Amino acid sequence: MAKARKRPFIAGNWKMHGTLAEARALASAIVAAAPELAGADILLIPPFTALTEVGGLLAGTGIGLGAQDLFWEDGGAFTGQISGPMLKDAGCRFVLVGHSERRQYFGETDETVARKVRAALRSGLSPIVCFGETLEAREAGRTIERIDAQLDRGLGDLAAGEIASVLLAYEPVWAIGTGRTATPAQAEEVQAHIRGRLEEKYGNGPASCAIILYGGSVKPSGSYSLFKEKNIDGFLVGGASLDAGAFAAIAAEALRADREEK
Ligand code: PGA
Repeated sequence: MAKARKRPFIAGNWKMHGTLAEARALASAIVAAAPELAGADILLIPPFTALTEVGGLLAGTGIGLGAQDLFWEDGGAFTGQISGPMLKDAGCRFVLVGHSERRQYFGETDETVARKVRAALRSGLSPIVCFGETLEAREAGRTIERIDAQLDRGLGDLAAGEIASVLLAYEPVWAIGTGRTATPAQAEEVQAHIRGRLEEKYGNGPASCAIILYGGSVKPSGSYSLFKEKNIDGFLVGGASLDAGAFAAIAAEALRADREEK
C-alpha cells in the first residue's frame, strides 16, 4: 500500500510545561515560522490552562489546537476532570488519548482509552490515540503482540466511518523523553503492521487514509529519514516542541522528504 497521505502532520505535545507568558511566547514563535511550513498540518497541544490563550494566537493561522487528555463523561460531579464539550468550546479540534505517561502514572488502561476515544468522537474532536511497547516487551520479542492488544482494546468497537476521524501515534515507551529515537526501520516495521491491522478491521480505504504518527525523541536530525518511510505520516513531538526553532525544523525536514516523493 502506497503512502496515501502526503501532507506531513506535525504535533507538538507541550506536556506540563509553560506559564501563560511562556505559552504565548512559544506559540507566537511557531506562528511566525508558519508561512514556511504551509505544506504541513501543524498542531499545538499546550496544557489545559493555556488552551484559550494559545487558541487565540492561532486563530486564522491554519495551525490546529489540541488537548492532552479528556474525561469520558461529558459533564457532572467529577472533580478535576475536563470533558470533550469543554475542550471543543475552548477551540480544540484534537485530543491525545492514552499517552504512555497517562498509562504509566495515572492508571490509564486500554479500557479507559476506548471510553475516551468514544467521548472525543461524540464531541466532534479527533482523538490521537497513543500506544507503544515498553523496553521489556521489545526485548522479549513481544512488540507486535503488545501493539495489537492496545489497538484492539483501545479502539474498541469503532465503525469504519469513525476511524477516519481517529489518528494513531506509535510511541515506543523506551524512546519517549530518553533521547533514544527508534530507527526508521524499527518505526516503519511497527507502523506498517498497524496499517495492515487497520486494513483487516476496516478495509483498504480507511487504512490507507489513516494518519499514523511516530513519537519518541523526535529531533530535527533524523526526522527526514523517518518521514521517508512509507507508513510514517508525521510526528508527535514532546521535548523538541518546546523549542520553536527545533519544532519548525522538524516540520521542514518532513516537508523536504515529502517534496522529494512528489
Ligand atoms: P519526546 O516525547 O519527544 O520528548 O520523547 C514524545 C511524546 O511523549 O509525545
